[in-house]
Amino acid sequence: MCAAPDFAPIAWRDGALEILDQTRLPLDEHWLRLTRVEEVADAIRRLAVRGAPAIGIAAAYGLALALLDAADPEPEPSARFERAFSCLLATRPTAVNLRWALERGRETFEAHRGEGRPALAAALLARAEALRAADLATCRAIGAAGAELLAPGTRVLTHCNAGGLATAGYGTALGVVRAAWERGRLALVYSDETRPLLQGARLTAWELSRLGIPFRLIPDAAAGALIARGAVDAAVVGADRIAANGDTANKIGTYTVAVLCARHGVPFYVAAPRSTLDPGTPDGAAIPIEERSGDEVTSVLGTRVAPAGTETCNPAFDVTPAALVTAIITEVGVLRPPYSESIARALRS
Ligand code: MRU
Repeated sequence: MCAAPDFAPIAWRDGALEILDQTRLPLDEHWLRLTRVEEVADAIRRLAVRGAPAIGIAAAYGLALALLDAADPEPEPSARFERAFSCLLATRPTAVNLRWALERGRETFEAHRGEGRPALAAALLARAEALRAADLATCRAIGAAGAELLAPGTRVLTHCNAGGLATAGYGTALGVVRAAWERGRLALVYSDETRPLLQGARLTAWELSRLGIPFRLIPDAAAGALIARGAVDAAVVGADRIAANGDTANKIGTYTVAVLCARHGVPFYVAAPRSTLDPGTPDGAAIPIEERSGDEVTSVLGTRVAPAGTETCNPAFDVTPAALVTAIITEVGVLRPPYSESIARALRS
């Protein structure tokens, strides 16, 4: 049984937020030391910290840093808080966990309003620590619930990285994989490499090899052939936002996997905490999709592979319609269609 959060990518140490820089993995395990909210926003924007739950947790620490910052000439705590809130919220539009975590910070700020900057900073820091600890427990619960869905000998395909690195340390989709492995239910993982930024090749492969879970790294384009030839028993992916009707935004290429699974009768599972459920977004069409720089497409790991001047289209996420989702695995159990009802129930529980 593997209880330790092996990949905890976020830590508070000696008055600073330390982040395992995911842009440098797996070649280099380099920790960034962040003391200002602008540095946290920059780390989120350039994916040094990434994955919906991890983004939210980092942002919660960012609010505390804004109140702690001795170099900031702004004396008014609420002005600092609002500026930090907007700065962090603007970093990445799709992952709803970001807004969710910032709103938890706002609750804390309101509860301690008027107590002075040191007390507010301490309360925001305690809230960020609590969110980090809660995420670990949440992911373990997701893992346990998801493992029950997989029969012994299951071969799972996953996309992007929804592992410990994308959370406080255990993972959502990879939490299911990990729990299934611990329970003797998993035979093999296929990890899509996940172009353009290769989260599957760089991060999921790094986690799985450290956990000793057997896996094969595959080009994204190989998923169809493998699913068609019966090599995949289930797909398990994470999510950045799940609309009220169950439509799910996740890393670009997830929709392709879902369509392939539907075509070949393979179950397609989404694993996510309740903080990823967004009752305020009615359906997938209302989910904002982040468009990232074309350089990510024209280059691979800093080396240009397309002719100079090539125009690109680089949506970072796609939306899988609820009809293609077999079940949504949360910390309060497995949600089944109709999702408008099961999601509303999960949020009430
Ligand atoms: O752009 P990224 O790397 O932040 O995208 C991450 C994903 O799409 C994950 O699958 C999602 O955030 C869930 S992480 C538990």
